[in-house]
Amino acid sequence: MKITFYGHASLGIQVNDVDILVDPFISGNPKASHINIDELKADYILVTHAHQDHILDVEAIAKRTHAVVVSNFEIVSYFEKLGIECHPMNHGGKWDFDFGIVRYVNAIHTSSFPDGSYGGQPGGFVIEGEHKNIYIAGDTALTFDMKLIPLQTKLDLAILPIGDNFTMGVDDAILASDFVACDKVLGYHFDTFGYIEIDHEVAKRKFFEKEKDLMLLEIGDFIEL
Ligand code: NI
Ligand code: MN
Repeated sequence: MKITFYGHASLGIQVNDVDILVDPFISGNPKASHINIDELKADYILVTHAHQDHILDVEAIAKRTHAVVVSNFEIVSYFEKLGIECHPMNHGGKWDFDFGIVRYVNAIHTSSFPDGSYGGQPGGFVIEGEHKNIYIAGDTALTFDMKLIPLQTKLDLAILPIGDNFTMGVDDAILASDFVACDKVLGYHFDTFGYIEIDHEVAKRKFFEKEKDLMLLEIGDFIEL
């Protein structure tokens, strides 16, 4: 499984020869100006919630690639009206896709479209594929619901927001990594705007002191599990 960071909360995941994008917000992120959305491959686009900083490039990429949008019922209804193929899910449900199993899990946040219309309840994803399991938390507060995840899935990586203000910050992300029983964390949702700028060295040291590993990727860089 290959995981590429496209800035903010945007990820590329390659698993079993399938390309998945998560929450593409790239063309509107000045820090990601070296990433061309017209060159990104996508068989599926996973969307955690309806906020602009998670859906901005979904329509353009889905229409070019014919990727299937996977999200909650309300977000899928929105994209289906634009003529995009979708797979609706909702909280607690899982589906066996051609690349692996996806479960849509709880997040504590809000979810409205840029025009203010209802985007359903926000979520995160647990993906099991190629014998590697990852948790993509989405925008969320620390929540006890995270403790349900390791009852069902032994994670190899937790992708957690660490920018604070709109989501968990570093200290809560450390607790979240305990809750999901995974000490290997990829941080995201930081530095994009002033409200969520963080000190990278302080963040990494705090994880290190708890015998955990916080990875922070440059935009466009990837890790392999
Ligand atoms: Ni959000
Ligand atoms: Mn966000």
